Amino acid sequence: MVSVRLVDLTKRFGRVVAVDHLNLEVAHGEFVALLGPSGCGKTTTLLMIAGIYRPTEGYIYFDDRVVNDLEPKDRNVGMVFQTYALYPHMKVFDNIAFPLKLKKVPKEEIERKVRRVAELLHIEDLLDRKPGQLSGGQQQRVALARALVKEPDLFLMDEPLSNLDAKLRVEMRGELKRLQKDLGITTIYVTHDQLEAMTMADRIAVLNNGRLQQYGPPEELYRKPANIFVAGFIGTTPTNFIEGTVTGGKPLKFEFDGRVIELGDLSLDDAPSEVVLGIRPEDVEITEDGELEGEVYVIEPLGRELLVTISLDGLHIKAVTGAESDLRMGQRVKFKIPPEKVYLFDKATGESLL
Ligand SMILES: Nc1ncnc2c1ncn2[C@@H]1O[C@H](COP(=O)(O)OP(=O)(O)OP(=O)(O)O)[C@@H](O)[C@H]1O
Ligand SMILES: [Mg+2]
Repeated sequence: MVSVRLVDLTKRFGRVVAVDHLNLEVAHGEFVALLGPSGCGKTTTLLMIAGIYRPTEGYIYFDDRVVNDLEPKDRNVGMVFQTYALYPHMKVFDNIAFPLKLKKVPKEEIERKVRRVAELLHIEDLLDRKPGQLSGGQQQRVALARALVKEPDLFLMDEPLSNLDAKLRVEMRGELKRLQKDLGITTIYVTHDQLEAMTMADRIAVLNNGRLQQYGPPEELYRKPANIFVAGFIGTTPTNFIEGTVTGGKPLKFEFDGRVIELGDLSLDDAPSEVVLGIRPEDVEITEDGELEGEVYVIEPLGRELLVTISLDGLHIKAVTGAESDLRMGQRVKFKIPPEKVYLFDKATGESLL
């Protein structure tokens, strides 16, 4: 097991800056998710850590050792990709055994290690089959087994669950998390799915355009987003953003479209007047004594709850409310934006002001 430290890690492809001065520390045994939209530099980062790409600038440390010049095979890293890349003509046993055969591990030891890792992943009955005779989830387990059998110091996974159907993905998500904790192998996990990152990782690094936006535990990213991008990316239903101005001292007031929301005792020194207020749908309260009023535009049942879109003269605000509510489309509705749940961002920079 190793810790990983990235220092100003940068990768340019011609004029494209895929990864831009990334600084990140991953502790021993930690599970870190690299999260961000398509093209933000997740895979490029992972391939640099694995040694497949050379950084244009910056350093990669494994513990206290710079590994920039270390060959991939000498890094003792296990990788799992989105496409499982199993060898179709080989049986499952031989697929898993492959990395050990490359290392010329004795036959009996290979036999023992393959059986043990197969048991761990509950595929011990599939060892005589070929990949074509397995389900997607079983193939995924074989790919994991092949990465684990080398007993890597570091586990790198690039969207390993995205080829599975929704149900299996949820199941494997839990199993992978459990497995990682049981084995204690330092893990870096790439995904564009915020829910996967939130549910599995100890810490999440959010990337956009090759740059780190925020790094912290899931609750921190959810509760204290550093900027508009993170607030919009993290959360099952997207955060509402309302452009307006802040005025006054205590209580601070937020004005938009001729409406005012009192923000209580928030203290904002030197705040710009042009701001963006963010509020999560699950924090908007539909209540008779709400100070805002709009019209129910659409209602989307989510099972236990309803996602209600409220129109304020065309501005749409989403709220989550209990499924027992008897709201109807087109009716007037009062609601509240609780000041303690609000985020405020500088409109010009997108950075949080709180
Ligand atoms: N070999 C390459 N040559 C040129 N540009 C590349 C190369 N690999 C990646 N890029 C560019 O670098 C940027 C980051 O790519 P990367 O594959 O790391 O994104 P990603 O976050 O993994 O995206 P996705 O979620 O779609 O897999 C993109 O703009 C991409 O087009
Ligand atoms: Mg990728």
